[in-house]
Amino acid sequence: MKPEHLKYALSEVPRYTSYPTAAQFGELGEAQYLQWLGELPADQPLSLYVHIPFCHEMCWYCGCHTTIVAGYDRVGAYFKTLMREVELLAKALPHKASISHLHFGGGTPTILSPEHFGAFMEHVGAHFTFLPHADLAVEMDPRTLTPEMVETLASAGINRASLGVQDFSPHVQANIHRIQPFYIVDRSVKWLRAAGINAINFDLMYGLPYQKPVDVQRTVKRALSLEPYRIAMFGYAHVPWFKKHMQVISDDSLPDTLERYEEAQLAADLIKQYGYEEIGFDHYAKPNDAMSMAARDGSLKRNFQGYTVDEADIMLGLGASSIGQMPQGYVQNAPKLNDWRETVEAGRLTVMRGLAINEEDRFIRAAIEKVMTDLALDMQDHCQAYGRSPDALDGALPKLQQLQTDGLVMLQDRKLTVIEPQGRRFLRSIAACFDQYWTPSKSKHSKAV
Ligand SMILES: C[S@@+](CC[C@H](N)C(=O)[O-])C[C@H]1O[C@@H](n2cnc3c(N)ncnc32)[C@H](O)[C@@H]1O
Ligand code: SF4
Repeated sequence: MKPEHLKYALSEVPRYTSYPTAAQFGELGEAQYLQWLGELPADQPLSLYVHIPFCHEMCWYCGCHTTIVAGYDRVGAYFKTLMREVELLAKALPHKASISHLHFGGGTPTILSPEHFGAFMEHVGAHFTFLPHADLAVEMDPRTLTPEMVETLASAGINRASLGVQDFSPHVQANIHRIQPFYIVDRSVKWLRAAGINAINFDLMYGLPYQKPVDVQRTVKRALSLEPYRIAMFGYAHVPWFKKHMQVISDDSLPDTLERYEEAQLAADLIKQYGYEEIGFDHYAKPNDAMSMAARDGSLKRNFQGYTVDEADIMLGLGASSIGQMPQGYVQNAPKLNDWRETVEAGRLTVMRGLAINEEDRFIRAAIEKVMTDLALDMQDHCQAYGRSPDALDGALPKLQQLQTDGLVMLQDRKLTVIEPQGRRFLRSIAACFDQYWTPSKSKHSKAV
């Protein structure tokens, strides 16, 4: 990394999985949500996000919304409430909606029993209409995946699997409390493929405790030997003030900023050498994968799951803490399990927080999304497309000019282009120039690199 880039690497910036970001959410209740649902157009397909907030063991790096459970009682109870929530949501919609994407996230969605998972999918199918080529994706933990569950997933129509891999080095695995030898991932991939689930994604991580560039290199090579369709390479976000269990990870066990940059760039170079295309700042996909194609034709999107080919404007959330994205704004279900359960059991949707968005937010959101997905933005064209004066984005210019001086972007006649490869690593900092809410001093986000 060049010395002039260090200040960007050290700064904390949003990941822009939404704009405005969740930091701007305030109180927003069921009445508003019901009104927004009632206004949804009948002819637009929607995406569903289902959150399963349970795992059997805590990985020390985990930043996800999850609870550790020993037996199945709490998971089984959650399943029952989730079934009820599907009915409430379907009833609140003015029509039987079509589903283009369904994503199970967690926690560990495959903690559901095969019986419950199958019943849940049938229930969703009874209340909504799955479009013929709908993307039906599940995040799964290879350590606890079973052949029986894989069979159930395939029978239920699941066609995309996202496996948590992280790092294959035994010493890194010991230091993140996640022992997962290669054979466990290998066998999961084999089971999935044998069942016809070929679209397999891996989550890998850099910046983990005691992880060295050589560990990243070894992990990437071994992961690529299994030929996943897509790879997400996440930088470990160390936020011990927010996730107390991360306090087990001492600051001095973590790679410093320079090492993090080196690890991220090393992974990028290696994955590309194997023929994958680089998508945004943390994704890679085979050239014939829908995500690579979307990145090439400019249709790639970004939503709460990160980079996506999901073009639906409407994403509705099910389960505790789920976030929904609607034309009118964002909504979030009650994060606490008890609050969520009691509300749903009382026959109400649990939205408690959210944000109505205005025209200015939409205008900025689309600009930020373009930077994050296309690595370029014709600022003047963008203003014109939104009926604004050509200088409506000029407030970003002073910051962008500094980025240009530092060699991360090129600006010509209000045409912004990210300079590769270094600009890609700082994509979030580049996008932040357009953010009307973010101030560096108040930031409690993760590090830019
Ligand atoms: C819900 S988990 C995936 C499914 C399953 N629970 C598992 O771990 O195998 C989502 C992914 O987020 C990533 N992740 C979790 N905590 C993170 C953190 N603090 N910083 C960056 N990425 C993180 C990991 O790569 C993880 O695989
Ligand atoms: S990384 Fe996955 S398995 Fe580990 S605690 Fe987080 S959600 Fe659970």
